[in-house]
Amino acid sequence: MPRIAYVNGRYVAHREASIHIEDRGYQFADGVYEVVPVFEGRLVDEEPHFDRLQYSLGELRIAPPCSRAALRFICCELLRRNDLRRGILYMQVTRGVAARDHKFPAAAKSALVVTTKNYGGPTAKLIEEGARVVTIPDIRWARCDIKSISLLPNVLGKQEAIERGAFEAWLIDREGNVTEGTSTNAWIVTADKRVVTRQLGNAILAGVTRASLRKLMTAEGYELEERPFSLAEAKNAAEAFLTSSTSLVLPITQIDDSRIADGKPGPMTRKLREAMLSYVNK
Ligand code: PDD
Repeated sequence: MPRIAYVNGRYVAHREASIHIEDRGYQFADGVYEVVPVFEGRLVDEEPHFDRLQYSLGELRIAPPCSRAALRFICCELLRRNDLRRGILYMQVTRGVAARDHKFPAAAKSALVVTTKNYGGPTAKLIEEGARVVTIPDIRWARCDIKSISLLPNVLGKQEAIERGAFEAWLIDREGNVTEGTSTNAWIVTADKRVVTRQLGNAILAGVTRASLRKLMTAEGYELEERPFSLAEAKNAAEAFLTSSTSLVLPITQIDDSRIADGKPGPMTRKLREAMLSYVNK
């Protein structure tokens, strides 16, 4: 069965799918995106992902490409055509096609591309042993709350992580605090079992997994502190983990050269991963 992509109104063979060379996403990274996890053939947290897409579009003053109902239909139709059971759905909206000029084009139609991919999540080994992260300065812009396709610092950071033998890079702000990972939110657990993650604001992306985990934690009666935490605090934490649509909850057992506690995934992280797994599979 050929893999199908949705491009500006058409369902086309993925390998032949293309956009115009003057698409502003291609020329200026003038666009936004979403990555939605797919479990059991359905989108997880579909509405919060649509809400965040709408927020990112609004902040950049890009017109929505279609109604939410139409977008919902396109996503479901693409899952169906690709018979996707477990994986991710990618949506990208750009300001559209126009002759290259920095200012907004007077008349351009927002461009929408949707693709799907089979993906089973991180390997069992990584989940069992925990991931290693390295730290690098956060050199991104001041609006990391917008899910922009302009991802060069994130790309460079992830590549550095891989070259240093790690899974992810945590970004450190000028005050020495952890903001987030290149494509994940960052969390620690204190010695007295309090879970800590950075508060929302312009410095981080409001992760949908972060929000769902927050709700699950409240339901279970766990304590959450939303505040900045320093690299030193993270290295001395009882546990550390990351969250994202692609990794859900993934334990971190080493930050740079420091082992976290005994170097094994912690009990709170395991519990939260289990809670998240039942949530996405329900
Ligand atoms: N990344 N922080 C950043 C910078 C991200 O790019 C992401 C998501 C997250 C986690 O958000 P969520 O829980 O909504 O996936 C945090 C996606 C998966 C990506 O770029 O592939």
